[in-house]
Parts: sequence; C-alpha cells; structure tokens
Amino acid sequence: MCPPDYFGIEYEINAWMRLSNQSDLVHARAQWQKLYRILTEELGAKVELMKPEKGLPDLVFTANAGYVEGDLFVSSAFKYKERQGETPFFDAWFQSHGYRVLNLGPDCVFEGMGDALPFRDTVFAAYRHRSEVCSHKTLGEILNRRVISLELVNPKFYHLDTCFCPLGNDSALFFPPAFDDYARRVLKESIPDLIAVSDSSAHRFACNAIVVDKTVVTNSGCNDFETALSERGYKLRMTELGEFMKSGGSARCLTLRLE
Ligand code: ARG
Repeated sequence: MCPPDYFGIEYEINAWMRLSNQSDLVHARAQWQKLYRILTEELGAKVELMKPEKGLPDLVFTANAGYVEGDLFVSSAFKYKERQGETPFFDAWFQSHGYRVLNLGPDCVFEGMGDALPFRDTVFAAYRHRSEVCSHKTLGEILNRRVISLELVNPKFYHLDTCFCPLGNDSALFFPPAFDDYARRVLKESIPDLIAVSDSSAHRFACNAIVVDKTVVTNSGCNDFETALSERGYKLRMTELGEFMKSGGSARCLTLRLE
C-alpha cells in the first residue's frame, strides 16, 4: 500500500474523475488509515508500504503497479502519461525487495493487477479501456499460464478489478453489464459459482474487494450481497472509501497482493 499524502483529483482519465469533484485530503487520509487498520489489526494481514511521491496522485492505487507472481514482478506500461511517472517508483520498490522485475515493453498498454487476476491456473485479463489485448499474449508467455481475454464495455468499469473478484477456488463476484456477451459466456463456462452483484452495489465498487481468508473488504453501501457471501462462508467488512471513489478507485485498487 502507499499512503495518500499526495492523493488528489488532478486530471480526468476515467469516467469517475471530475476536476470539479475534488477529494478532501483529511478525509482521504482517515479512510486510508481505517482500511490499513482493518487489514493489519482486524485481519492480521502483513502490509508493506511504499513512500508517496509528490506529483503522483494515483500512486496510492498500487494494484496498477504490475502483476506479481512469486518473486516475479511484471511492471505495468500505463496508458496515460499522467500515470507513467509511477513506474520507476514501483520498479525500484520491487527491485529493492528482491523481486525480478520484467517489463512488457512500452508498445503495449498493461495496467497490472487492475486488469489481470489469477483464478486457479488461469489468469483473467481485461482489455479495451486501459490494458491492450497484446499485453495478454506476452503476460501468458512470461507466466507460462493460460490467459483468458475479457472485453470490458462500460466506461465506469474500466479495469477488471472494478467488476470482477475471484473468491477462493470456485467462486467469483462479477457485474455482468461490464462485460461483452462473449466475456460473460467465458466467465460462466470457466467459473462454477459466479455471483452477480447488483447495479447499486457494483456502482459502489463491491467487486473492488480485498479478500483476506474468509473476509471480503469493500467500500460502504454494498450490503446487498452480504447474504450471497455468508452462504459461502464469507464475512463482509465494509469501510467508507468515498474519497477514492472520486478517482475511480476503492479497496482493491489501494492494495497489491504479494505472495
Ligand atoms: N485514478 C486512477 C486511474 O484512473 C484509479 C485507478 C484505480 N485502480 C484500479 N486498480 N482499478 O488510473
């Protein structure tokens, strides 16, 4: 995670960001701290931190740094120049923590675990709004894994982690209207227990969840999938993340899972 010291809405690169809808730094800090405490104190997760950098307001969204598997870090190639300056800082962090750092090359946009999520032996990877489909082929070759490409069609759900969240080995949360017909069919065929999230919860970024053991951490206001979760033995832990929603991000985006 990366503390939100320099977080703000300084540009508009997704359908949620509006320069006229500024975030409040005091509230953002408090919301981030609360999320950090839930993960560490309530759920016992170990959280590594990186240093915030002035002029990089979206560095808080570490999910986009790259793709992590074991000691391998496949670094992102950001679509927008506004975020490209983050890459040297992410790469330096991973290098200094003993990871092998690989780059996909600048010719093909790839936004890390915002757009590529492992499920069993497969990686589901999204394209269209941010990552480009060419990145999927290279990622598959590097990881030596099957990568299934999914097309995202709704600009509000521009990264895969805004509309899809694996839950253990058999289940996943998803928001059906975010995907094209083919992607929906592929998901149905590959995941035995697909849980469709309601329109209202999806727009509160219910799918942008952090799963720690049997707890699902999300933004507030996602109550209506609590039953579906408890039927599967999961607990819902909501926390207010409204300041980050103004930037098109929520719980999951603010973290990058290390193994
Ligand atoms: N403002 C950021 C952007 O548009 C939000 C990133 C959210 N990250 C994510 N993994 N969905 O790039």
